[in-house]
Amino acid sequence: MESSSFLVTTASGLESVAESEIVSKLEQAWVQATLRGRIIFGCTAPLERVLQLRCVDNIYAYIASFRVGPHKSDLVDLQRTISKLDIMPALSHLEMDKPYTACRIIVSASRSGKHTYSRFDAANAALEALQDCYGFKRGDSSCHDIAFRLDVIGNDGFLSVKLTPPSFRFRGSTRGFSPAALRPSIAHALVLLSDPQPTDVFLDPFCGSGTIASERATYEAKRIIASDISPDAVTVARKNCPSQVEVHSWDCRSLGLEDGEITKIVTNPPWGIQVGEVDQIAELYLQFIGEAKRVLSASGKIVLLTDQTKAVEDACLKICLRVEPLLRISLHGLVPTVYEIG
Ligand SMILES: C[S@@+](CC[C@H](N)C(=O)[O-])C[C@H]1O[C@@H](n2cnc3c(N)ncnc32)[C@H](O)[C@@H]1O
Repeated sequence: MESSSFLVTTASGLESVAESEIVSKLEQAWVQATLRGRIIFGCTAPLERVLQLRCVDNIYAYIASFRVGPHKSDLVDLQRTISKLDIMPALSHLEMDKPYTACRIIVSASRSGKHTYSRFDAANAALEALQDCYGFKRGDSSCHDIAFRLDVIGNDGFLSVKLTPPSFRFRGSTRGFSPAALRPSIAHALVLLSDPQPTDVFLDPFCGSGTIASERATYEAKRIIASDISPDAVTVARKNCPSQVEVHSWDCRSLGLEDGEITKIVTNPPWGIQVGEVDQIAELYLQFIGEAKRVLSASGKIVLLTDQTKAVEDACLKICLRVEPLLRISLHGLVPTVYEIG
């Protein structure tokens, strides 16, 4: 079986969850490198299977890594290196309906470390190398056929070509959104951290647009329940979630559920800029965690994403629930924690 290499992006902090999704869902997959928010891996699985990964935001065909110097004068070497790479195996994943000489390309670059050039300088050097070698035309962000990606991290450069459209990370273009909706890839990682089982009776009591419940619905469950206090959120969640998800208009402090009925709660309560008074948020978290304890089975657990660390930890202490921080994610300039409670 022939193997291919891919580079995927994920929220920084979730690399370990994305790695386990890759090795568990794809045959003969091996991680070649893990960088901040990026994973390079090889596998023998066909592209259709790779495109089914759900903890990742973008998927690229990986071309190669190479040394990059720190000075602007080193960009000549970068250009020379890129012009010697064989990009054809990576381009074979794209279905082009025109010759390469008619294709418009762009190169997006990221750069971290000490360099005397900008990411735009690096991108431009790569673009010129690719144009000279293959006769590509120069495109722009709104009009191009092929998008290359160059990551410069210290002395290392990584070149890849984008395989997924912008709609990939939003699960298509028809989903409705509510304020503070989670990225589906992050919601999926939270679901995986809850260890989804076919026997689960699953609840997201702060469901917003239903992102977490929709992601949970990609695995078998006994019941999947989503609820929110906001009528607008409930309307959007009903539109977004597949039919097996029950969507209710409930306050998290008085859920319409029997004692011990739920095996897993995965949720992200209000946090970040959405929080109001500190006292109000502490009280909301305390009442929610008390109610969650009532509806959870003896072996049930909660996976919760928030930046309100004090509110969560104080509430768990008062309600006598074990609380463990699992990981921290970089998100919109904040660094919320994923907790396991129960
Ligand atoms: C961070 S958002 C959840 C976003 C959701 N994960 C998504 O992807 O769309 C928090 C949600 O909590 C809801 N909420 C706030 N107070 C609540 C309460 N007392 N009971 C239930 N839901 C509440 C808000 O209406 C909001 O939709």
